[in-house]
Amino acid sequence: VSDMLVDSFGRMHTYLRISLTERCNLRCQYCMPAEGVELTPSPHLLSQGEIVHLANLFVSSGVDKIRLTGGEPTIRKDIEDICLQLSNLKGLKTLAMTTNGIILARKLPKLKECGLTSVNISLDTLVPAKFEFLTRRKGHERVVDSINAAIDCGYNPVKVCVLSAILFTLDFSLNYALSIFDPLTSDLLVNCVVMRGFNDDEICDFVELTHNKPINVRFIEFMPFDGNVWNVKKVVPYSEMLDKVGKQFPGLKRLQDHPTDTAKNFRIDGHLGTVSFITSMTEHFCAGCNRLRLLADGNFKVCLFGPSEVSLRDPLREGAEEHELREIIGAAVKRKKASHAGMFDIAKTANRPMIHIGG
Ligand code: GTP
Ligand code: 5AD
Ligand code: SF4
Repeated sequence: VSDMLVDSFGRMHTYLRISLTERCNLRCQYCMPAEGVELTPSPHLLSQGEIVHLANLFVSSGVDKIRLTGGEPTIRKDIEDICLQLSNLKGLKTLAMTTNGIILARKLPKLKECGLTSVNISLDTLVPAKFEFLTRRKGHERVVDSINAAIDCGYNPVKVCVLSAILFTLDFSLNYALSIFDPLTSDLLVNCVVMRGFNDDEICDFVELTHNKPINVRFIEFMPFDGNVWNVKKVVPYSEMLDKVGKQFPGLKRLQDHPTDTAKNFRIDGHLGTVSFITSMTEHFCAGCNRLRLLADGNFKVCLFGPSEVSLRDPLREGAEEHELREIIGAAVKRKKASHAGMFDIAKTANRPMIHIGG
């Protein structure tokens, strides 16, 4: 890994999240205000060529995982082409996407052909009417269809589960085997943002889904972003979620985490799937952070939280040479802080709306 990607705390940034668009076909309350957000004029957004050029610079420096985000990445017309070009970058091992699943089902076979190796699908409720309230749009059934289509397409959410079933049978030490096989990188995840009074009563229903379905459900603590409906009272802390799940499912067992994982992972005796918790608010995981972000307008962001951004689009368009771009990137990475400011201070610090950042 090139020095450009190492920060002043020695963290190696080998995971780049690229936001492909500021637009979305949903209007989730946790992501943006009802009226939407101001959009960057399209000439100021990165073109496909610019995205691939910058991605190449990162991959040739040591990035081996790219996640495509948005807005909603699937609504970008050239999404297949982008996947094809990125998946051909030498050194890239994982090309992932985080999507709302609204139009994913029909796009998935082609995306897979173009090299998309994994998908995370957001689903925050199992009740269609609540979905409409949260997203201010219809589409619950289509998201569920996309999750099933992803399983049918061969996206494999079961690496953890299959292994744990085999080991359970063989009476092996699961943690020992996990440490050898590193199977925690599933190709299909379901992300569920938990908000008090909205879906905290559905946590166990989501967990129940993992009984017969080989899916990894991840419960995410609600985070504050510009223009969303965050309020500290709506955050359901990890400890509370864990308590709830543990009481209802006594066979809950912690799996060994990967040091750079955003999630704390668990299995439940007799369940095909697994459950995880993303504890950004109450137990941040910044010490293992390996993530950088390229936004749709070409800004480079070294942390999900905080206003610090630098444009890569402008120097690129002004004809900067590769070594100059590397210097700009390296300097921004070196300015990265040890961790975010903490649950209460994050909410006071200026940031963009989530729709611009992509998570
Ligand atoms: P995997 O690559 O499958 O582990 O996914 P991921 O967790 O990196 O990304 P995803 O887009 O599925 O995001 C899931 C949740 O984690 C979202 O709520 C993101 O906002 C949050 N998240 C992703 N990256 C970071 C990060 O660097 N810091 C924090 N605090 N949260 C993050
Ligand atoms: N808090 C936590 N997670 C969020 N996401 C979007 N907004 C928030 C928020 N305010 C999740 C989405 C998606 C991922 C990119 O981030 O549900 O799964
Ligand atoms: Fe990394 Fe910032 Fe997220 Fe912490 S808050 S894990 S430093 S991106």
